[in-house]
Amino acid sequence: MTKVSPSVLSADFACLGESCRRVLDAGADMIHFDVMDGHFVDNISFGLPVLESLKRVLPDAVYDVHLMITHPLAYCRQFAAAGADYITFHVETVDDIQATIDAIRAAGCGAGLCVKPGTPVETVFPWLDQLALVLVMGVEPGHGGQAFQENALDKLRALRAECARRGLSPYLSVDGGVKAATTGPQCVAAGANLLVAGSAVFCADDVSRAVRELREL
Ligand code: DX5
Ligand code: ZN
Repeated sequence: MTKVSPSVLSADFACLGESCRRVLDAGADMIHFDVMDGHFVDNISFGLPVLESLKRVLPDAVYDVHLMITHPLAYCRQFAAAGADYITFHVETVDDIQATIDAIRAAGCGAGLCVKPGTPVETVFPWLDQLALVLVMGVEPGHGGQAFQENALDKLRALRAECARRGLSPYLSVDGGVKAATTGPQCVAAGANLLVAGSAVFCADDVSRAVRELREL
């Protein structure tokens, strides 16, 4: 079964704990937590205190933290302490990639690397054997609710082939524009086994059904 990580970027922040509880009860495997600094991307979302609060009310959830920030190395330890299980950062970062992976793993989390739509997926290959997760962006990072860019499918296929060739099995995740009726099945066919979905889950009339439909892909 495909794993699903609903992105809380599209949730109602006035009742974030309840919204997360609902998607977890519906079978969501993780909570995708999008951190934006207004610098790496042109938007600001939320950060450490929000993760700490969620961890307090939902201590058993798995937190899939996606850092869209210029300096992941400076913050990854704090996100680990706040409750992250997986910490994904961008290969386009200015920070030292190996040092950032090392810091994430030393803090007890799985490390993830993410590529934007314009970045070749091969850029993550040198670190593939150290990664718990590779995240392919289906949209330009920064905002929910954008249209899926098809080149993510070729990247997933290339990743799947490279992982098979090297006997590796990190999560192959895709984020942005993922919908159960259209792009979700394409992503799964291309090799994704962890679907991130924001608006498709939290803006759905029936949130629980939206999670179940994605998991059944
Ligand atoms: C975008 C974020 C995504 C976002 C996806 O920068 O990384 O996680 O929430 O939203 P949808 O699923 O609506 O495209
Ligand atoms: Zn994300």
